Amino acid sequence: MTRRNAHSPSPLSLSARASVERAGRALGDRRARPNLRWLSALLGATVGSVDEYLAELATAVPLEEEIRRRHLAGGRPNYAQFRAPFELYALVRCLRPRHVVETGVSSGVSSAHFLLALQRNRHGTLHSIDLPVVQRTATFGRTDSPVALPPGRASGWAVPEPLRAGWDLRVGPSQELLPALLRSIPSVGLFLHDSLHTPTHLAFELATVRPKLDPGAIVLADNTAWTGRSFPRFARAVGVPMRARGRSDLVGLRMPIGPPGRSGRRSSARSTPPPL
Ligand SMILES: C[S@@+](CC[C@H](N)C(=O)[O-])C[C@H]1O[C@@H](n2cnc3c(N)ncnc32)[C@H](O)[C@@H]1O
Repeated sequence: MTRRNAHSPSPLSLSARASVERAGRALGDRRARPNLRWLSALLGATVGSVDEYLAELATAVPLEEEIRRRHLAGGRPNYAQFRAPFELYALVRCLRPRHVVETGVSSGVSSAHFLLALQRNRHGTLHSIDLPVVQRTATFGRTDSPVALPPGRASGWAVPEPLRAGWDLRVGPSQELLPALLRSIPSVGLFLHDSLHTPTHLAFELATVRPKLDPGAIVLADNTAWTGRSFPRFARAVGVPMRARGRSDLVGLRMPIGPPGRSGRRSSARSTPPPL
């Protein structure tokens, strides 16, 4: 239940605010504070609908600490990791998708939060694709990619053991693996692009996943400053607004629920999914 403090400017309950603060501290990433405006714009719902899910992040503190421990043991406090892990968690808890697909795993911050939410839903599978790059020497050097794996580690190396059961992690280029993965599942309820950030590659991934998207599915893409018009073009093609997370280049949209109108675009009356 949402209990609001009358003096607080935040629409979150006190317990949800305390939980996200604790979880963010445990993860060691100050950017991880959830952007509520973005979440509610994506969901077409009020913040109240995610409050209870953000509040339960207090129980994720040991897992967040473990992710941080693993990063530190890998030689860096954090990696070029996904900046909105708690939003991923809340979206999956709210929408209860049967299949979540992500491209780009690296150490596995996004994966860990998807897996935790799916585990708590007791329903659904995460399918991840990653083509890792490996750090050149034992210690991280200036010429290394910020997403490089430390020596001896594999994609998703910071994901705690208790989350790994049932994870469909595929290693290779998404150019090859994404079409095959999508042929093997009936539909996709949430898709995250966080792999090769070029206009052509993002356009390829979006075009490939589009026929499999569930009505009301969420589609997210990070680092769109590098991918030109690919995401805005996709949003236009599916007839829904694109939502940016604050001033960042992490963007998303929610697929329409209804069928396209006569013009080929979805009618505006049906393009906003119902509240949750
Ligand atoms: C920004 S990182 C992913 C971060 C991750 N989502 C997280 O939360 O920490 C991008 C990852 O995509 C991988 N990658 C690059 N090109 C790829 C491709 N063509 N197919 C699949 N993965 C790719 C990179 O090696 C890297 O592991």
